[in-house]
Amino acid sequence: MSTRHRLGILLSGRGSNFLAIADSVAAGRIPNAEIAVVISNKADALGLAAARERGLNALAIEADGRKRAEHDGAIIAALREHRIELICLAGYMRLLSSGFIQAFPERILNIHPSLLPAFPGLDAQHQAFDYGVKVAGCTVHFVDEQLDHGVIILQRAVAVHEADDAHALSARILAEEHIAYTEAIARVLSGAYVIEGRRYVRKQ
Ligand code: GRF
Repeated sequence: MSTRHRLGILLSGRGSNFLAIADSVAAGRIPNAEIAVVISNKADALGLAAARERGLNALAIEADGRKRAEHDGAIIAALREHRIELICLAGYMRLLSSGFIQAFPERILNIHPSLLPAFPGLDAQHQAFDYGVKVAGCTVHFVDEQLDHGVIILQRAVAVHEADDAHALSARILAEEHIAYTEAIARVLSGAYVIEGRRYVRKQ
């Protein structure tokens, strides 16, 4: 039997993307994978409690006043201990140190609630709404050393409706995030894609 792909999830909050990934793993939509560990920098994150309820390894590794590199070092050690192949940031609200990113080249994914490169940074859905875009969406990308910048794996778009407020738009984007993250992880684990410059393309 081939060994399963071991996923590590990093989150800070409610964890709806984590739960979508967990459901997809359970349903076989991410073939031959398992969630080997869920780590949060917030001990009281709802997503961490949800991971425990599902019987997953769930660790709180808080910064506790440590410098970023030191805190990241503790997380890297936990990821290595659990032999993680792919790290999925799912609402992880802390910037990664360059040491962290270099420790896992092309093995860290992030989901961002806008169609990058538009609206990087915090509150992307509100930024998009206030800007008046007519199409919004989400992006799953590899993490590199610039914020919300790495190679794009896939995006899903949603229409902005006349009657929307930022909250309604955020909810519509979130529903697409849950689909996008599963598809992106499956794509990466399939081994059928390569990075060419900034493009993520199917191998010839
Ligand atoms: C999502 O909007 C995601 O795009 C962003 O943080 C939010 C996390 O939500 N990176 P959840 O904790 O997965 O529900």
